[in-house]
Amino acid sequence: MRILSGIQPSGALHLGNYFGMMRPALELQERGEAFYFIADYHSMTSLFDANERRRNTLDVALDFLACGLDPKRTVFFKQSDVPEVTELTWLLTTVTPMGLLERCHSYKDKIAKGIPVNHGLFAYPVLMAADILIYDSNIVPVGQDQKQHVEVTRDIAIKFNETYGETFVIPEPLIRAETAKVPGLDGEKMSKSYGNTIEIFGDEKALRKKIMAIKMDSRTPQEPKPDADQNLAIQLLKLVAPADVASDFENRLRAGGLGYGDLKKTLFEHYWSYFATARQKRAELAANLDHVHAVLRDGACRARALASQVLARAKVAAGLS
Ligand code: ADP
Ligand code: TRP
Repeated sequence: MRILSGIQPSGALHLGNYFGMMRPALELQERGEAFYFIADYHSMTSLFDANERRRNTLDVALDFLACGLDPKRTVFFKQSDVPEVTELTWLLTTVTPMGLLERCHSYKDKIAKGIPVNHGLFAYPVLMAADILIYDSNIVPVGQDQKQHVEVTRDIAIKFNETYGETFVIPEPLIRAETAKVPGLDGEKMSKSYGNTIEIFGDEKALRKKIMAIKMDSRTPQEPKPDADQNLAIQLLKLVAPADVASDFENRLRAGGLGYGDLKKTLFEHYWSYFATARQKRAELAANLDHVHAVLRDGACRARALASQVLARAKVAAGLS
């Protein structure tokens, strides 16, 4: 079984990325042959600063390795180190109906918000399809917001297979219901583009301040809160604290007598200690960047070996060679 996922180097990773995509992906390393990559080509659709892209790419590499990606087991690489994927994108583009892309939420949302869209943003799901299909991927672990893109990939693969004969493996998205949509500081989906994130790694003081500033309602601490399970701090605590601790706090909030300040303080402490080991590992890796670059180079080599085979298969099927 081959597992594949990617993440854009578009800013510091946050709890939504970690629980929605990274942790499920890291757990799957044990269950099959995993390919994880940094989608730097994709980031070009919305990030136009070369130095920032370079910095973010290295940051994502450090984040992934610090959180437990095992480069001996898993092929870890940078998307643009496998340029075959852009050639496959062209082949796929020609069997992709316009309507399929016009229906994509991520594209429609940008239009609705009045964000100027480039052709790359419109064609984004076709590049994503090439990412997935070029490694004969079976399983694609992602958060809920990427589900539609994996469905588009399936449609494109089916269309290509119908047109040119069996060429591509049809992939399945894998979405964990409990962390499909991690809420951000404002209760909406946590996302870099909404400015409501809690980063995985960052300055302790700034992060404590962010968590302590989460807005709560004006009920007094004594008042019982029958809707305790809807409380944002409780929802986040469930992710980073042991289950018995989280349910104890939920019960205390429901019964009345627990102040929001104390709850947020507890949330910060559990969040901070949850990532303590990863933080330590990240600092070690940051002091040994040669190793990080070597991991990515080796990953690119292994990824390219497979990508060139699958691309060759598609070119033969389409009568290009
Ligand atoms: P962002 O919305 O912050 O730009 P990305 O689009 O880079 O995040 O997402 C990277 C991965 O993390 C994707 O698989 C996405 O589904 C997942 N993800 C992002 N935000 C969340 C969230 N709030 N809850 C669950 N998964 C998320
Ligand atoms: N579009 C994904 C995101 O923004 C990143 C991505 C690119 C990806 N190619 C992929 C995810 C292939 C899974 C599989 O999060």
